[in-house]
Amino acid sequence: MHVNRTRFWILSFLLLIYLAGVLIISAITIQDTKTKPIKFKPQYLQISKVKHYELGFSAFRTPLRKSKINWCTELKILDPPKGLVALASFPGSGNTWMRYLLQQSTGILTGSVYKDYGLLKNGFPAENVVNGSMLIVKTHEFGPNAKKMFSKAILLVRSPLAAIQAEFNRQSGGHIGFASPARYKRNKGKYWEQFVIEKLQAWKQTNLDWLYNFTGPTHVIFYEHLVENLEHNLKSVLKFLDQPISETLFKCAMERREGIYRRKRRAIVFDPYSQKMKDLIKIEQERVYKAIFDFAAPTKR
Ligand SMILES: *[C@@H]1O[C@H](CO)[C@@H](O)[C@H](O)[C@H]1NC(C)=O
Ligand SMILES: *[C@@H]1O[C@H](CO)[C@@H](O)[C@H](O)[C@H]1NC(C)=O
Repeated sequence: MHVNRTRFWILSFLLLIYLAGVLIISAITIQDTKTKPIKFKPQYLQISKVKHYELGFSAFRTPLRKSKINWCTELKILDPPKGLVALASFPGSGNTWMRYLLQQSTGILTGSVYKDYGLLKNGFPAENVVNGSMLIVKTHEFGPNAKKMFSKAILLVRSPLAAIQAEFNRQSGGHIGFASPARYKRNKGKYWEQFVIEKLQAWKQTNLDWLYNFTGPTHVIFYEHLVENLEHNLKSVLKFLDQPISETLFKCAMERREGIYRRKRRAIVFDPYSQKMKDLIKIEQERVYKAIFDFAAPTKR
C-alpha cells in the first residue's frame, strides 16, 4: 500500500511535469504564431513591395492602382474629326511616351492599329480605335497597306542601338520592364545576335518606307531631340497637327512629362552590343539619317 502510494505520487509528479511541459511548449507555440506575423510583417510588406516594384516595371499588363495616370484634363475625342494622322515608328522608339504626352497636352485621345490590353486599361482607352476622332493613330507597320489610310504622318525615329534594345526589353519585360542579362546570352548569344540583325532591317525599312513612300505631309521627330528639348519639340508636333496649344494644359503636361511608361534608367549599365554589331548598326543608321536630313532639306535633293 505504502509502495503504491509512493508510486502514485511519483507518477503524479511526472504527469505534472509532463503537463507543465506541454503547457509551456504550447504557450510558446501560441505566442510564436501570435508574434510571427507581427515580427515578420515588415519583411512581408517589403516582399510585396518588391513584387509591386517588379510588377510596376515589367508587367504594365497587370497595372497597379498606384501607377494610374493622372490626366491634366478629361480625355475626349477630336471634335470635329479630321483626316487620319499616323504616329509611325519602329517599336521601342518612344511612341507610348509620345502618345502619353499628346494626350496630356491636348486632352484628346490617341488611337492605335493594335489592341494592347495593358495600354487599353491603363491610360489609352481608345487603343484599337482607328478613325478621325483620334489625335493620332499609332502604327509600327510599313508597306503600302499600312500607309494608305493616313493623310498625315508623324515619323518618330530613335537611334537603332537604343530602339532595338528597348524592343528586346519590351518583348521580355513589358513596356517598362527589362530583359535579364541571361536573355542576351541565350543560345550562346545567337538569339540576341539574330534579333539585332532582323530588327535592324525592320528599323531601316520602317523609317525609309514612311519617309520615301508616304505621300502625305510628314513630320519627322527624333526621340533623342524630344528628350533634349521636350517643350520645343512637342510644340512642333502640336503645330503640325494644327492643334491649338492650351498653355495651362501644356504646362501641366510638362510637369507630368515622365508619366509611367518610361523605363527608368538602369542601375547596372551593360552594353549588349558587340563591336561587329555596332559597326553594322552604324552603317545603316548613317544611311537612314542621311535620307532623313536630305528629306528635310528638299533643296538639296
Ligand atoms: C471613332 O470611334 C469612336 C469610338 O468607337 C467613336 O466614339 C467616334 O464617334 C468615332 N469617330 C468617327 C469619326 O467615326
Ligand atoms: C517603297 O515602296 C515600294 C513599292 O511598294 C517598295 O518596293 C519599296 O521597298 C518601298 N521603299 C522602302 C524604303 O521601303
